[in-house]
Amino acid sequence: MEGRVWYLPHMPTDPALQDIAHALRQAQRVVVLTGAGVSAESGTPTFRDAMTGLWASFNPEELATPEAFERNPELVTRWYDQRRLGCMACLPNPGHLALARMERELTARGGRFTLLTQNVDRLHQRAGSQNIVELHGTIMVWRCTRTGREVTPPPEPMQAFPPKSDDGGLLRPSVVWFGEMLPESALAASFEALDGCDLFISVGTSSVVQPAASFVFYAKRSGATTSEVNPEDTAITRWVDHAARGKSGLLLPEINRLAFDD
Ligand code: OAD
Repeated sequence: MEGRVWYLPHMPTDPALQDIAHALRQAQRVVVLTGAGVSAESGTPTFRDAMTGLWASFNPEELATPEAFERNPELVTRWYDQRRLGCMACLPNPGHLALARMERELTARGGRFTLLTQNVDRLHQRAGSQNIVELHGTIMVWRCTRTGREVTPPPEPMQAFPPKSDDGGLLRPSVVWFGEMLPESALAASFEALDGCDLFISVGTSSVVQPAASFVFYAKRSGATTSEVNPEDTAITRWVDHAARGKSGLLLPEINRLAFDD
């Protein structure tokens, strides 16, 4: 093949990647915050992307509320079961797998790694991450509206909407709806991890929903190096020390390579 020049896909040389990798090499207590963007490459829609298909005419913020469930439990539970099955059909992407590796590397050297996620899809668990705090609950577990008892529905479409619990109530997803409080235990675990961390990485979140959007300030107060991995600027970009621009499925493995393999 005379004369043909093959250009290998080269990795981004964003200087922020080197800076984050350098901080990761030195870190002992790492906190990573993820949002819907880390699952985007697995095929799950982010919150602020337009909804597609059947649900295009619904705004998540209209369906993800106690009032919507009260008003139309059939519609809300159908939507959530559709999302639950959609998440099950997705696979963890290289970004999820890279965060699981990051945790293994920290743990192997006696460090500490905490993954705070706003996501409800459990793709981090399926990628092998261990120390996870689910800030907004999970779509994979539902609970009785009367007794609060939790069940894990089987991996197949629900047969009736709204689904009934065995305790005489309805079943609702164990996710945090707009206007609901985050689980106390999740908040306590988050602030405990942020207090004293030395590296904070925000991945795939627009950082507009509290309290997650303020975690970067708690990390800064602990003296941590703060960073972000996202294709575009977010509400915290101007506050972080290093902002790497790009998809997490590409950049997180590169950060690991620079931090652990070079
Ligand atoms: P958003 O949809 O607000 O933000 C997703 C972020 O991911 C955006 O900043 C995108 O630029 C970024 N993104 C898109 N593709 C990406 C990729 N391949 N790699 C990395 N980043 C990518 O979703 P969240 O910030 O997670 O709360 O939303 C936070 C909360 O708002 C959700 O947990 C939900 C919603 O209201 C509740 O349901 C309580």
